[in-house]
Amino acid sequence: MLTTSTVFRAARTTRALQRSFSSSIVARVRRAVVYNANGNPAENLRVLSVPNTLDPPPPSTLNIRFLLSPINPSDINVIEGVYPAKPLPRNPSNLSQTDSNDSAERVFIGGNEGLAEVMEVGEGVQGLKTGDWVVMVKQQAGTWCSDTNVGEQDVVRIPKVDGRLPSEVDAATMTVNPPTAYNMLRDFVQLKPGDWVVQNGANSAVGQAVIQIAAHRELKTLNLVRDRDDFAALEARLTSLGATRVLPYSLLDPTVDKARAKETRTSLQSLFAGSPPRLALNCVSGAPTTHMSSLLGSNAVLVSYGAMSKQPLSLPTSLFIFKDLTSKGFWQSRWYKTHSREERESLMQELVTLIVNGKLREPENEVFTIGADQDDESSTHALREKIQKIQGGRYGKKLLIKFDVKR
Ligand SMILES: NC(=O)c1ccc[n+]([C@@H]2O[C@H](COP(=O)([O-])OP(=O)(O)OC[C@H]3O[C@@H](n4cnc5c(N)ncnc54)[C@H](OP(=O)(O)O)[C@@H]3O)[C@@H](O)[C@H]2O)c1
Repeated sequence: MLTTSTVFRAARTTRALQRSFSSSIVARVRRAVVYNANGNPAENLRVLSVPNTLDPPPPSTLNIRFLLSPINPSDINVIEGVYPAKPLPRNPSNLSQTDSNDSAERVFIGGNEGLAEVMEVGEGVQGLKTGDWVVMVKQQAGTWCSDTNVGEQDVVRIPKVDGRLPSEVDAATMTVNPPTAYNMLRDFVQLKPGDWVVQNGANSAVGQAVIQIAAHRELKTLNLVRDRDDFAALEARLTSLGATRVLPYSLLDPTVDKARAKETRTSLQSLFAGSPPRLALNCVSGAPTTHMSSLLGSNAVLVSYGAMSKQPLSLPTSLFIFKDLTSKGFWQSRWYKTHSREERESLMQELVTLIVNGKLREPENEVFTIGADQDDESSTHALREKIQKIQGGRYGKKLLIKFDVKR
């Protein structure tokens, strides 16, 4: 129901929006992708310019500038207000943190993951210097911005391996998806070369990392994806990453074609040659996961880490009774919280080693540049259009935000 205060609030928000769009014609110094309140990101995200520069960093902090920051599905969920992690509110006039609870007087900067370059170090900072590449340790740091000040404990340096750094895209996308893939393949089932792993959402960034890390460990992967017109091209791309087999969900779905689903299962059973998968990775839920679970062998573990279909997980009871199926969840944020800085750095070292040795390639991607000469209103329009396209599904590329800022 619309109350008087909601109407006043909406009017104030609109005035604030108009002020921020018109402010884009004055010289802007810092920029961010922000939102005032939870809602649909294709409607509530906007590009905001603020006319202040960063102060010199206080002791034990750093000023950093973001080079590239991905838009992950969880970022969308945070903006929608359906994710159990929230960013801190910021003052819209200078992007500093604020205590205000008034949605017209505070904004949230989107983004959890990103690659930044150290611009200036405060007194007492050890182990980091100007020019280093860093990624976020702190969750929901607000990475969709041109530059910011962070505590030295909030970031970790990207290590060089044999004198080599990963690409900008690799570095910007390596704290969420590759570790999720790596840990899920390591922590639930003891797998040996030749073992099968089955996953859905196999063309996602996590799925692409699963395929490559599994191939590096000589594991076989059965990769399930949504049906699409260009299935053959996707199959070829995932196969080039190391996928053993790629299939569309419909081939396993008895409601689409019962006889064909049975035939597919029979042919997969002969492919598994008596050793069906004992690990299944699920980021989709809904019917595709029900069908995927029927391919599992005894004592298998189904690990759920996403629910892109927004449907609940439904598993046949018989799998628990007769095959002793275990169903578990995985959250990389929890992993980071429950592991030491040394363990996190060692995982990063492992991943950088895979990357610089060509074993883990950057996900299919597209850089969305917010141009230095593009005003806030047109940048906002272009960004919202892009988000809407991603929300439509089958986009096929990880979108990364880049600020091209006049300095
Ligand atoms: N638990 C964790 O710690 C953790 C860590 C990382 C990621 N995740 C989750 O893992 C999932 C993948 O993340 P990502 O960054 O790798 O994603 P991404 O690269 O953006 O890819 C999105 C994937 O979701 C699929 N998808 C989108 N809408 C769908 C729908 N309605 N039904 C079925 N599939 C749909 C896409 O398939 P199409 O190409 O067919 O659209 C694509 O495979 C997300 O749910 C994310 O939140 C969880």
